Amino acid sequence: MISIAKPVMGEEEKKAVLEVLDSGIIAQGPKVKEFEKNFAEMCDVKHAIATTSGTTALHMALLAHGIGPGDEVITSPFTFIASANSVLFVGATPVFVDIDPKTFNMDVSQIEAAITPNTKAILPVHLYGMLCDMGPIMDIAKKHDLAVIEDACQSHGSDINGKRAGAFGTGTFSLYPTKNMTSAEGGMITTNDDEIDELCRVIRNHGMRRRYYHDQLGYNFRMTDVHAAIGNAQLAKLPKNNGKRRANAKFYNENLKGVTIPFVPEGFHHVYHQYTIRIPDGKRDALREYLKENEIGSEIYYPLPIHKQGFYIEKFGEQSFPQSEFAAEEVLSLPVHPELSQSDVETVVQAINTFMGEA
Ligand SMILES: Cc1ncc(COP(=O)(O)O)c(C=O)c1O
Repeated sequence: MISIAKPVMGEEEKKAVLEVLDSGIIAQGPKVKEFEKNFAEMCDVKHAIATTSGTTALHMALLAHGIGPGDEVITSPFTFIASANSVLFVGATPVFVDIDPKTFNMDVSQIEAAITPNTKAILPVHLYGMLCDMGPIMDIAKKHDLAVIEDACQSHGSDINGKRAGAFGTGTFSLYPTKNMTSAEGGMITTNDDEIDELCRVIRNHGMRRRYYHDQLGYNFRMTDVHAAIGNAQLAKLPKNNGKRRANAKFYNENLKGVTIPFVPEGFHHVYHQYTIRIPDGKRDALREYLKENEIGSEIYYPLPIHKQGFYIEKFGEQSFPQSEFAAEEVLSLPVHPELSQSDVETVVQAINTFMGEA
C-alpha cells in the first residue's frame, strides 16, 4: 500500500528523546526553549511559543489578541474544523468568505465586503502548504485595523518571495504526525510582537507572571521537553523533507494527465503538505476507489465545508459558499510525503493516467 502520509522518524529523534528522559527534566524545560529559538529562526521572526497542538496555538493566539464575545473573525470555510472552532472557543463568531477555486485559499477580493464594525481579525488558512495572498490581506488588515492570525498548520517553511508563513501576522502551526514536521502532538505560535509573545507565555501557564500569583485566566498549554526533542530533530530535517515533497510534486505536475494540478502563483513557494488535484465531471469518487483497488492511498481534504457541518448550521443557519462546496466534490489529495520512492510516484501517475484515459 502506498500510504497518503508517513511520519519520518530516525535515529536523531530516538536519541534526542532518550537524552531528555535521562536528563530528569521531562516537562517544559531547556529543550522547549531551544526548539522555540530554532523555530523562530526558521520563520525569521523574533519569537516562537511552543504549545500542545495547532488547535491550542490558534486558541491561544486569539486569546492573546484579546478576541472574545461579540467579535468577528474572517476566515475560510474550506479547511480543517479547528480553524473556525478556535474562534468559537473564545466566544467570537467565524465569518466565512469563499475560496479562490484555483488556489483553494481565501478569495481576497471578498474580504472587505465581510468586514463589519465587529470584525477584529482576519484568519487566513494557508491550505495544503501554500500561503494565502498575504500582500493584499495585510493591506486590508492595516486599512481596517485588524489583527492577522495565520493558520499555518499545513505550511511549515512555505513562503512568498522569501517571507515565511508565520512571519506576516501571528503564526500558528500544528506539529501533528502527518504534517511536514512533527513533535508527535504539538503546536507553535510565531510573532514579532513582544506583547503578544509575553501574553502567550502567560496564558500558556495558568495566567501566571509570578509563581502562584494569577493575573488573568490561563491554561496549561505547555509543550513537554520530550515533544520538543522530537520537534527539534524534525525541524533540522524540514528543508530536506520539503525538498522531497516538492520533487514528488514536480514529477506529478509533469506527468499527470486529465486532472487539474495545483496552481502556484509567481513567487509562491509551495511545500506540498498535500498534493491536491481536481477531478472534473463527478469522477473523483470512482478514481479514489480505483486507487484503493490498486493499493494507493488518497484522501479528501475536506469532504464537507465548515458552514455545512451540522453544528454550524444549527448555530448560524444555512450559508452558501459555492466554490468551497464545489471544491469539496472535486478535490483529491495524493501521496506526496518524503518517504515515497520513484517507483511509488510512477505507480500513482500510471494508475491515474490509466483511469482518466479509460474513464
Ligand atoms: C488547517 C489546520 N488548522 C488547524 C489544525 C489543528 O492542528 P492540530 O491537529 O495540531 O490541533 C490542523 C491540523 O490538522 C489544520 O490542518
